[in-house]
Amino acid sequence: MSLISSFPIMSSSCNPAQNTIDWTALRSDFPLLSQQAHNKQLAYLDNAATTQKPNAVIEAIAHYYRVDNANVHRGVYELSERATQSYEATRNKVQNFLNAWSREEIIFVRGATEAINLVAQSYARPALKPGDEILISAMEHHSNIVPWQMVCKKTGAQLAIIPINDSAEIMLERYQQLLNEKTRLVAVTHVSNALGSINPVQQMITMAHEKEIPVLLDGAQAAAHLSVDVQALDCDFYTFSSHKAYGPTGVGVLYGKKRHLDAMEPYQGGGDMISSVRFEHTEYNSLPYKFEAGTPNIAGVVGFGAALDYLSAVGFDNIVQREQQLLDYATLKLQAISGLHIIGRAKNKASIISFVLDCAHSHDISTILDHQGVAIRAGHHCAMPVMERFNVPATARASMAFYNNEADIDQLVRGLAQVFKLFS
Ligand code: ALA
Repeated sequence: MSLISSFPIMSSSCNPAQNTIDWTALRSDFPLLSQQAHNKQLAYLDNAATTQKPNAVIEAIAHYYRVDNANVHRGVYELSERATQSYEATRNKVQNFLNAWSREEIIFVRGATEAINLVAQSYARPALKPGDEILISAMEHHSNIVPWQMVCKKTGAQLAIIPINDSAEIMLERYQQLLNEKTRLVAVTHVSNALGSINPVQQMITMAHEKEIPVLLDGAQAAAHLSVDVQALDCDFYTFSSHKAYGPTGVGVLYGKKRHLDAMEPYQGGGDMISSVRFEHTEYNSLPYKFEAGTPNIAGVVGFGAALDYLSAVGFDNIVQREQQLLDYATLKLQAISGLHIIGRAKNKASIISFVLDCAHSHDISTILDHQGVAIRAGHHCAMPVMERFNVPATARASMAFYNNEADIDQLVRGLAQVFKLFS
């Protein structure tokens, strides 16, 4: 099925100043969303954990396995060439999506986590000395903490932490003070998965670069919700995962400036990442292949390409506008509930709302909501230091995507009334 032909976008000539998407029709592109949970219409509000997939993605994967399946970069027969073309076409799409300077700067990995580990092992570890610092923020996901702790343990370097204020915003004056001659890399999240804060990354990069310190951005929660331009940002590395951007699991991207990637040695060896192997010596392949050891997730990458096509057909102007509407609507409804406290009140926020209730633990909230057909995440959201910062054991988190609607949020609010009834 063709993505574009099935895609419900009204003519932009209708009214370019207004939202041009038929959001109700668009929702039907996501087959999973029409199901019931506990005999209630499913309200899926756990999009920060993973997004649902449009038919175009599901069908691209099925088509690949039905028609194009072969290994990539290895066969000189037509089928393998077709598989290679589909796989490499996604690399071009990612290049466009991020506005990277070259397709060689796009490395396919398993996800944002693996991308950060790659930078930690191949960029940071060989360069770090005892006393050096990696600067991260107090709102990082474990994926942007633990890989740095691992290299620090091996090298004698240490982590330095940029504090956040009570509204869950980076404290920029403290950041300025923490950037010093020992700082080897800044690694910060673009959007916090636990709090929703959109960080002032452009400003943070400029401040770091003034001291010639490179910056990695963890874009796992940003790439599907904001337009990202790595050349305008001038970040040194950018990482994100396909599955949080309407694509399949098991695929992600490391973007790196070519001069960094050229200078880095791969940390995984195997097939496809070499140009010649002798027992005495191995020559590595050129970029981007030297970082893609072994048979990659070909079907996943093809499906990811379909997700990127879908996202660009919807358009980030529309996505940002719609998700902001949903965030505003949900914030109004939730903050009106007495005994509910929103954790994370940054001025610049993505469509994620973490909250706690006076009367119930977040796991109980989530279980009761599940019985009302509402799927949210409860717990520490792989960000235990964030829970410590706000002095809560866990939060309940509703995270919205453009296919959500006001009815989903109303269903959440009705579900919460049920929680109050049971626990008050
Ligand atoms: N990192 C994902 C989340 O925030 C799994 O839920």
